[in-house]
Amino acid sequence: MTGKKEMPTMSRSTEDMPKDGRQAVGIDDISVYVPGLVLPLTGEFSQKRGIDPGKLVKGIGIEQMAVPDAHEDAATMAAMSLLDLMKRSHIRPEEIGKIYVGTESSTDEAKAMGTYVIGMLEKVYGRGSFQECSTVEFKAACIGTTFALENLSYWLAGEDEGKIGVVIASDVAKYPLASPGEYTQGAGSVALLLKKNPRILALEQIYGSFTRDENDFFRPMGCKTAVVNGKHSNQCYLDAVIGAFDSFAQRAARKGAIVPGEGQCVTDFIDHQLFHIPYPRMVEYASAAVFRHDWMKGSQKKEIEGEIGPEPKAQDFRDPAEYQAKEAAYSRSFARSSQFLQVYSAKVRDTATLSRKIGNIYTGSIYLGLASLLELERLLAGQRLGFAAYGSGCSALFFSAIVQPDIGSLPRRGLIERLEERRQITLSDYEKLHEGMMEESLVTPEMEFALSKIDHQGYRHYEFVD
Ligand code: COA
Repeated sequence: MTGKKEMPTMSRSTEDMPKDGRQAVGIDDISVYVPGLVLPLTGEFSQKRGIDPGKLVKGIGIEQMAVPDAHEDAATMAAMSLLDLMKRSHIRPEEIGKIYVGTESSTDEAKAMGTYVIGMLEKVYGRGSFQECSTVEFKAACIGTTFALENLSYWLAGEDEGKIGVVIASDVAKYPLASPGEYTQGAGSVALLLKKNPRILALEQIYGSFTRDENDFFRPMGCKTAVVNGKHSNQCYLDAVIGAFDSFAQRAARKGAIVPGEGQCVTDFIDHQLFHIPYPRMVEYASAAVFRHDWMKGSQKKEIEGEIGPEPKAQDFRDPAEYQAKEAAYSRSFARSSQFLQVYSAKVRDTATLSRKIGNIYTGSIYLGLASLLELERLLAGQRLGFAAYGSGCSALFFSAIVQPDIGSLPRRGLIERLEERRQITLSDYEKLHEGMMEESLVTPEMEFALSKIDHQGYRHYEFVD
């Protein structure tokens, strides 16, 4: 624990959930696949793009970007994370009842990516080995995987044949070259094993939701990169996450899971707070918005106002622009307040550790946050995690989960060390890969799935290269 005083945390025992005799369902294991190529952002990239490296490292919070090689796409990355998950947890194909894939980098307008993934896995486990496993693709920008997780958890709760489920996030985050989105790109896949009596996290099955039609980020049919209204997307993200948080708070109170007493806040009952991570700095903006929103209803309000003064009120301003400027300045002061910084470093900051060296992996980025906490061994049995997922367009889902007693029994993944082994590439090679102009892979595939050809009909052919 860092900071001046003890954080109020109210962890839960897992014994009291669920209360009606059903077994808890949740995340039993997690596997992360990151491409073997990396572009450092503070060297040649920042020089040639004319960007101060300080802006990237401090202002955006990113140091390196994961880049897929010529033989990789979202389907190969998904297959890689699934293969690793199956090996780590000794899963046989026939045990898996459903594979739900969250992606916004789909390889086909109709065919589910999971069928390509199953095709690849069957090259390892044998033809037909997954034929009783169903698969569907969830598209909802960066929140697709979270909706997949929510749906799969309901299926799992009613499943009575001992089957398990897998949720895979896989994306290549891609913006036009030299655009403001470029330095937030990344690529990777996260596979989550969902089971009854899970070893890592039991889901509390409380989902707070928010949806609104927005044009913050979208990719019209046929476009290779997204249309992004960047600053607007930041604001949509904050609005949606606050809306989902309020919805969660009401549902958690109705279910009796989080019932704050006099002066207490909902976030007092959350030990680690995860967010969608389009770039690490966004996590700071989002946590400042959520904690401020929550604290202003509790005893923290007095302490905050003692440090930075009272919040501006819209009714006190005739000119809306003047109010907005005062409001933005107050948000910045809140984000620099000692109260917030203490909670940020204790409950939020470490979730962005892997993202700083990988970049945005869109729908999997919030689970990369979970992998960061696991790698840093920050989770203790009984702690409650809050998840705030966001997808442009736009939707947010806020949900919670409890760390399980068996968390220490899982083998380490060594992700932080593995990132150091990636091959650094030049700006020119990155640009060729970005534009699809690289004929040969930079690193010859070995012990991995590879896209071998796209035939005259557009069907994709994959192989396992050993
Ligand atoms: N040193 C340190 N910090 C610097 C700096 C420097 N030299 N120059 C700028 N900064 C800071 C800015 O002050 C700002 O921080 P602040 O908010 O505390 O003031 C931060 O860097 C970002 O700078 P800004 O100019 O606002 O960002 P940008 O024009 O690069 O745009 C995005 C950022 C996220 C809008 C853009 O990358 C984007 O469109 N990304 C894709 C969409 C996306 O990820 N949306 C997120 C929601 S889903």
